[in-house]
Amino acid sequence: MKQTVITLAALSAALCFGAAPKIDQRPFGTADGVPITLYTLKNKAGMEVTITNYGGAITSIKVPDRNKQVGNVVLGFESVEPYQATTSYFGALIGRYGNRIGKGKFQLDGKVYQIPVNDGANSLHGGTIGYNKRIWEAKDASTPLAAALELHYLSPDGEMGFPGNLDVTVLYTLDNRNGLRIEYNATTDKATVLNLTNHSYFNLASAGSETVLKHKLTLRADHYTPVDGGLIPTGAVLAVEGTPFDFRRATEIGSRIEDNNEQLKLGKGYDHNFVLNAPHSLEHWAVRVEDPKSGRVMEVYTDQPAVQFYTGNFLDGSAHGAGGAFNFRSALCLETQHYPDSPNHPNFPSSVLRPGRKYHSVTIYRFKTEM
Ligand code: GLA
Repeated sequence: MKQTVITLAALSAALCFGAAPKIDQRPFGTADGVPITLYTLKNKAGMEVTITNYGGAITSIKVPDRNKQVGNVVLGFESVEPYQATTSYFGALIGRYGNRIGKGKFQLDGKVYQIPVNDGANSLHGGTIGYNKRIWEAKDASTPLAAALELHYLSPDGEMGFPGNLDVTVLYTLDNRNGLRIEYNATTDKATVLNLTNHSYFNLASAGSETVLKHKLTLRADHYTPVDGGLIPTGAVLAVEGTPFDFRRATEIGSRIEDNNEQLKLGKGYDHNFVLNAPHSLEHWAVRVEDPKSGRVMEVYTDQPAVQFYTGNFLDGSAHGAGGAFNFRSALCLETQHYPDSPNHPNFPSSVLRPGRKYHSVTIYRFKTEM
């Protein structure tokens, strides 16, 4: 009841005094002759998020540290051109199928589909031109209580070899408790596979600084899916117990990353799908990252069954953006998702969407500080 009263009070205050959140816009360059925009979402707690409609990429997330110093905690660029050039998916929306599909091939309802390969023999993050390289339609979807940006993309039947016109809407909302909520909705007119996620690279000490090896990670995952040399799941679902993949208690990311472990060697570090313990709900965080130096903490809430934990092992300093060079292991990704290559593994949760059904998924990245 108390909650309701506060909410109504906030709502009427916002309406009466014109304090309703809205998002700022500014030009971000052009892609294929189309003007691209950068949107800024702000909240009352001093957090600010910028997002471009090119690839739906989050270009910065500015949050306070324990001394109230605001810093940017994701790798990003200040104009659209580097986003067009990069193959590292900085901050972008990923689709139609996040992570890998073995040899780019799968069968659905007896038909074989071929996605262009772009990662050795396999397809990665939707093939050669994924959603990260598409221009999304954008609109301000702010409410009196929160700034929000809605992005829409119609992925045509046959694009990158996937069946069905997929109508995708992504809603980014910044709440007043420093939570960035990403809601994905999609429908299709033919059965298809999909795996939508966001590919932000986080460094809680601030982008462009040191590696993330001193960050502490907690992953509520008893199992992970080991991979082969092409980073395709073998199909096994293994216990993390007794391995460097056990992050069930807060553990420094760098403490075991150089262990003599075959899986770590194949991934050049962590680049693995962790199976999140049920229930997959937004009530409890699934992943927590803390940076002892800045005191920043990030909690990840998701309804997805898994998360790809990737320690930026392919970053080599060649990309420069806000904060400096993006060096080896200078950031980490937590891509909430269905398991990689699930169209080829009947024992993995299904990533099939059929006409008449609605795909709906939510992930929240929430920022805090601790002393
Ligand atoms: C994902 C993959 C990694 C890598 C990055 C992008 O996290 O699992 O292997 O391809 O995307 O560089």
